[in-house]
Amino acid sequence: MSNTAPKKLYIKTWGCQMNVYDSRRMADILRPLGYAETDTPEGADMVILNTCHIREKATDKVFSEIGRLEKHKRAKEKSGGKMVMAVAGCVAQAEGDVILNRAKSVDMVFGPQTYHQLPEMMIRATGERVVNTDFPAENKFDSLPTEQNQGSAAFLSIQEGCDKFCTFCVVPYTRGAEYSRDVIAILDEARRLVDQGAKEITLLGQNVNAFHGNAPDGSIWRLGRLMSEMAGIHGLSRLRYMTSHPLDMDEELMAAHRDVPEIMPYLHLPLQAGSDKILKAMNRKHTADDYRRIIDRVRFYRPDISLSSDFIVGFPGETDSDFDDTMNMVAEIGYGSAYSFKYSARPGTPAANMQGLVPEKIKDERLARLQDLIGTKQLEINRRTVGLTLPVLFERPGLRPGQIQGKTPYNQTINVPAPARLIGQIEAVHITEAFTNSVAGDIQVSEFMTKSA
Ligand code: SAH
Ligand code: SF4
Ligand code: F3S
Repeated sequence: MSNTAPKKLYIKTWGCQMNVYDSRRMADILRPLGYAETDTPEGADMVILNTCHIREKATDKVFSEIGRLEKHKRAKEKSGGKMVMAVAGCVAQAEGDVILNRAKSVDMVFGPQTYHQLPEMMIRATGERVVNTDFPAENKFDSLPTEQNQGSAAFLSIQEGCDKFCTFCVVPYTRGAEYSRDVIAILDEARRLVDQGAKEITLLGQNVNAFHGNAPDGSIWRLGRLMSEMAGIHGLSRLRYMTSHPLDMDEELMAAHRDVPEIMPYLHLPLQAGSDKILKAMNRKHTADDYRRIIDRVRFYRPDISLSSDFIVGFPGETDSDFDDTMNMVAEIGYGSAYSFKYSARPGTPAANMQGLVPEKIKDERLARLQDLIGTKQLEINRRTVGLTLPVLFERPGLRPGQIQGKTPYNQTINVPAPARLIGQIEAVHITEAFTNSVAGDIQVSEFMTKSA
């Protein structure tokens, strides 16, 4: 056994849940090499910036973070140590060479599909600057160590990459081709997470419902089948999944929302835009009507399901009337939550060369109007849950002292006055108040408890 103090590892993460998952797995890989995670870069022996390339501000933030870290790196060198600075994730994949040229302080650049090779890269980095942005033939999931405890609400990556090539999106280039993990590996990981205390598992993928994994019976399982099987894991109370693509909402998955009580009544199904012309230019491969039909079908199986979406405003060629189509869809569908973004041209994507750029000022106006409407709808939908008693999984301390925070089945954030010892538990909560982005309530004391108290 080594008697040296652990080396300090600082990881900063941007982007989607897949990146959050990857960051945890990087920490899992480096732990046996003597690295323990800290939450400040000061005095760190290794810093990893796990980056996102989805919109342009993300890249700018990475470069300013590198600038800020340089002083820590110099301080470390002055005291005779070394701080290895690594840039990982989707910016690293897309712009590895640019980063190495522009930021001399960066020692290592690696993409989302090569981080399982970190131990070899660490050795190489002692003598040279390392770039590793290949798409290796071997599967990174096969060589990752056992994952660290994630607590009561855990994440599990089951699918990666994308073959859909929406014209605005970098994901097919940064994450590579669509790939599904084997069912056995997923079930094993899920059981370990539950053994470590997970009550809820969120299955992750850039297009999670495109999942088609090899099953032990020699067939291919889709997401609905996989979740039905996972629901049988003793101690697992809740299943979620994200992000889904409308084209991959198959009947089996929709029916699972009716038949499998562990699957939470929540679906994140990005629409992006309400106009058929824009959907076509985005290469989403469906119309607004197709989307309506899918939602009708989902609601047929699970009438109370809470829906969520992503929207892009100001895609090239978007007129006022196209934008009105988006607004009308938001009003019509009624989302319990939704994320909206201004279109940002990404280098190397087809939309970056399209005509009809929408001026920034108009994008700002449209975004403000859309967010306003989304907020109004959210509040309306949150209000409908007032008076209900819902099971809440508490995950962390709440907004105010004396409160704890959790999620309802509908994925609403809820703050409740309750002791911290209930964090990690599922409790019945009576919803008393609704806000735009959360609800509030009180823990329900059962009749039996009241009588015997
Ligand atoms: N696979 C998911 C989305 C993954 S990216 C899907 O197909 O729906 C997450 C979100 O970022 C997208 O839904 C989109 O709304 C937004 N986004 C992606 N590229 C963007 C760009 N170039 N400009 C603005 N928003 C973008
Ligand atoms: Fe990007 Fe489209 Fe793939 Fe989603 S489906 S990750 S938006 S290319
Ligand atoms: Fe960003 Fe890469 Fe995720 S671009 S959104 S971190 S897949």
